Amino acid sequence: MQEIVQDIVNADCIVLATPIYSWYCTAKMKAMLDRHYGLNKYYGSAEGSLWAGKKVGIITTHGYEGNYATEPFEMGIKRLCKHSGLEYAGMYSVQDEDDLASFQTESAVAGERDFADKLLET
Ligand SMILES: Cc1cc2nc3c(=O)[nH]c(=O)nc-3n(C[C@H](O)[C@H](O)[C@H](O)COP(=O)(O)O)c2cc1C
Repeated sequence: MQEIVQDIVNADCIVLATPIYSWYCTAKMKAMLDRHYGLNKYYGSAEGSLWAGKKVGIITTHGYEGNYATEPFEMGIKRLCKHSGLEYAGMYSVQDEDDLASFQTESAVAGERDFADKLLET
């Protein structure tokens, strides 16, 4: 966990890549996000955030369709960004239709590339 925190501090952009499980991210990603309090200096008289200003993007897969599947997680991350002074940079998601091919369509790959380009824009 210590190394992940250092990677986050060193990064310009954080991409949260996770399937949607029970309307949110995986338990492992949730555990990592729960450590974000260590990056916010809100204890005692301290103020500010060690990761303020960094971009945050989401890449996700889900069984239900589009917004219905992703809205709770995306809303949570948007609020976390606001709370921590991060810049929410958007989400790319693909519906998993129980078939690996649903991740490998030309439009899915092109969409991922476009999203990566968007995240890399300064
Ligand atoms: C434990 C579990 C919970 C899931 N919960 C949801 C959910 O709440 N909403 C949804 O749209 N899809 C849900 N799904 C479907 C997954 O998001 C989807 O199949 C995803 O691509 C699985 O990725 P994985 O193969 O890496 O686990 C769930 C799947 C699993 C295994």
